[in-house]
Amino acid sequence: MYSVLKTTRRWWIADKVSEYMKRIQIEGGRRLEGSVEIGGFKNSAVALIPATILAGGLCVIDNLPDISDVDKLSQILLNNGAKIKRQGNKTIEIDTSGIEKCYADYDMAKELRASYYLLGAGLGRFKKAKVIFPGGCSIGTRPIDQHIKGFEALGARVSIEHGIISVEAEKLVGAEIYLDVVTVGATINIMLAASMAEGVTTIENAAKEPHIVDAANFLNCMGAKIKGAGTDTIKIKGVDKLRGCEHSVIPDQIEAGTYMILAAATKGDVTITNIIPKHLEAITAKLKEMGVKITENGEMLRVEGNSAIKNINIKTLVYPGFPTDLQQPMTSLLSIANGTGTVTETIFEGRFKHVGELKRMGANIKVEGRIAVIQGVDKLSGAKVEATDLRAGAALMIAGLIAEGTTEIENAQYIERGYSFYREKLIKIGAKITEI
Ligand code: EPU
Repeated sequence: MYSVLKTTRRWWIADKVSEYMKRIQIEGGRRLEGSVEIGGFKNSAVALIPATILAGGLCVIDNLPDISDVDKLSQILLNNGAKIKRQGNKTIEIDTSGIEKCYADYDMAKELRASYYLLGAGLGRFKKAKVIFPGGCSIGTRPIDQHIKGFEALGARVSIEHGIISVEAEKLVGAEIYLDVVTVGATINIMLAASMAEGVTTIENAAKEPHIVDAANFLNCMGAKIKGAGTDTIKIKGVDKLRGCEHSVIPDQIEAGTYMILAAATKGDVTITNIIPKHLEAITAKLKEMGVKITENGEMLRVEGNSAIKNINIKTLVYPGFPTDLQQPMTSLLSIANGTGTVTETIFEGRFKHVGELKRMGANIKVEGRIAVIQGVDKLSGAKVEATDLRAGAALMIAGLIAEGTTEIENAQYIERGYSFYREKLIKIGAKITEI
């Protein structure tokens, strides 16, 4: 039943969905210079691939990041009867006309967070779906009560048995849904299901992240009627049928922000291309506050670091605030900035697992609840460390690039969940990084 999916980067067999463990080695202390092209946004791509189920036809998605989460979701669609063709690194054709169900079991989806989008898409098209309780990076409890609240408001029955979530409805009827917390996942999931409900759905207190707009644009291109994406009130007028379409994924603001941080951290001079600078305003403002020089030029940003960067306070917030996904990479930079700074994490309660590893490299950080107090040190020194999640991996990669000597990062496969061709991109700008 399973097939083998080839990407340009790797072969992997989907009946062993677990990624093999990887270890990378970095020789630190090099100034990075050059340009880095940013790929499509992971958190958008992982919503758009399940959304193709709603089309029941051929969708062509361009500017897709070449990351493991995209491979896994594509494989789940294949297993459910979709036809998939990759063209080069960035384009995928997904024909979902042959799909008759929407199902993902433990082996297919245990490491994925975005598997929850199969519920909204399956509910919309087939009025039912069954998916393993979502996994993903271990950064907090990550409830999905708001997704369930939304599905139930539309008329679905939701049950959780033996680790599988089942959603089912005779029909979906538009409703007014107020989200108790601002959540990207629930906002998109409700949009998916409501696109094929009878009547109008209103989501109040909706998330406003750029990928909410990207997902709404994709659905509208399929024939959905969604208005207000990007504001906190989204209105969806349900339609009977959607169709295939072509779409290009927006640039990855988190990948871009990570390269901006590492340019500053290595006192480098790096131009980040293929971006939407507006999506990067929070990180740009905070880096400027630290004394980093940033120059905007159309779809590019030039980031010039220096040795006099000062520590600052950051607080993670929903968009347009400082993104939680850049908090961990930013901690590595604050570790070597002059003076004392703080990081307050308001979104995920368990997102400080990288701190212990940074301390191993000489960082001076104290965590009290949701606040990390960082006293800048003159240097970090290379060490053996372990990535516990995707952005922790990115934080350690940055720390390795600035540290004296050699750093070995265990479980580096996490980095591949969100950073396409990261070793190639880093080597191109002067880093010494190898997989061992
Ligand atoms: N929340 C609830 N109930 C829900 C859903 C969310 O209480 O039903 C809470 C969460 O616990 C959290 C907050 O609401 O405190 C925000 O959660 P959100 O739904 O926005 O996050 P998510 O869907 O679990 C996605 C990304 C994350 C990213 C967050 C925030 C995917 C697959 N994941 O997670 O990406 O951090 O949005 O932008 O899209 C990453 O890229 O490293 C990553 C973890």
